[in-house]
Amino acid sequence: MTAAGLTATRGGPLRGRVCAPGDKSISHRSLILGAMARGTTEISGLLEGEDVKRTAQAMTAFGAEVTRLEDGAWRVVGQGGFAEPADVVDCGNAGTGVRLIMGAAAGFDLNATFTGDASLRGRPMNRVLKPLGEMGATWIARSGGRLPLTLRGGNLKTIAYRLPEPSAQVKSAVLLAGLHAASGAQVIEPEATRDHTERMLRAFGAQVEVELMADGARKITVPGGQALSGAPVKVPGDPSSAAFPLVAALITPGSEVTVEGVLLNPLRAALFLTLQEMGADLVIENVREEGGDQVGDVTARHSALRGVVVPPERAPAMIDEYPILAIAAACAEGQTVMRGIGEMRVKESDRIALTAAGLAACGVGVEEEAEGLIVNGTVRANHPVAGGARVTTHGDHRIAMSHLILGLAADRPVSVDEPGMIATSFPGFVEMMRGLGGQIETAELHPA
Ligand code: S3P
Repeated sequence: MTAAGLTATRGGPLRGRVCAPGDKSISHRSLILGAMARGTTEISGLLEGEDVKRTAQAMTAFGAEVTRLEDGAWRVVGQGGFAEPADVVDCGNAGTGVRLIMGAAAGFDLNATFTGDASLRGRPMNRVLKPLGEMGATWIARSGGRLPLTLRGGNLKTIAYRLPEPSAQVKSAVLLAGLHAASGAQVIEPEATRDHTERMLRAFGAQVEVELMADGARKITVPGGQALSGAPVKVPGDPSSAAFPLVAALITPGSEVTVEGVLLNPLRAALFLTLQEMGADLVIENVREEGGDQVGDVTARHSALRGVVVPPERAPAMIDEYPILAIAAACAEGQTVMRGIGEMRVKESDRIALTAAGLAACGVGVEEEAEGLIVNGTVRANHPVAGGARVTTHGDHRIAMSHLILGLAADRPVSVDEPGMIATSFPGFVEMMRGLGGQIETAELHPA
């Protein structure tokens, strides 16, 4: 038996200008806040990936009118609250979708049953259920608080919740629930995480206070009983997706690639800084404000990279980018040390384990730690990574894309399984990379 996969092969330089697909985090939030609000939310640049489409379907199930007008242009008409869904809400592969929707739903007097694909059913939901439970929500879940689960919301009390892990999803779930708790909610985050929920809540007319505490933590307060009003949302380009063509250009001789309209929010853009520290010729131009955030055009040219020690406190601002950073590190001279990244183990897959396994299969020296990954760059002038491996992705889109990018620069081709999963976050990835000159072909993979 064979299964469909994708194979990336080293070829000529990558060249061209492309637009980053819409930001996944902001796309989910625009649909959810639009559905919670009263009135119309017009969204442009929405990421039409599988994860976000699941959230759109879920918002319909909770009573909003969600219409696709044209490519990336969507309209949400909210009723000012959620209604009880008539059926199970299937969030597919989307951790952000299900966790934010559970937070939003907890504020309303309803029962809702959530499920997802095999990856999502294996991921920890306790991190969200714990604070929602302290606020008064109840649920019945599989052991370990895993999906499928039925949540009963409504009649919430206030909470002051100190995040035990740096998670914007948990923060957002508590804030969204807090909007409908009698006395609101407070979240204290010792390490700053992406702030899209706070920013978008304000754009939808909500009061959100952010205070810097004496110990450096941020305290975010939403007063209770707040109503949201629909508002226009322009979704910027996703820096997590832009990372793939940009790193491809950095590691492929002769390349120059520009990705336009990339979100530069400092709580998301730490990969770019890290790559520059590695010696990357990465230039950010045409910086402008769009939808309350800064965006810019990012150009990467093939560069001689060297290994770095990534400051662990940077992790929340680039947590999804470590797999592709590890690819850049493999193509660098010297060692790259990535620590404080334990959260990577509870993403769509155990990304520390799969990145280590993928790189090792491609001939790269790696050391895996409980909360870290060390990559020994193999490259001295004209010595590419060996490659020649078939990488198991466990259905993780970022593991698949990262190793395909490595294949574009490796000595021998690199194949990945489950290529369909790339569409969860980056539906046009293969076409974009081919348009830039990358050789990525469909392949029949034989059992390993
Ligand atoms: C996200 C937060 C991060 C990130 C995920 C998107 C969000 O997850 O990995 O891809 O949109 O809030 P955690 O909150 O679990 O760190």
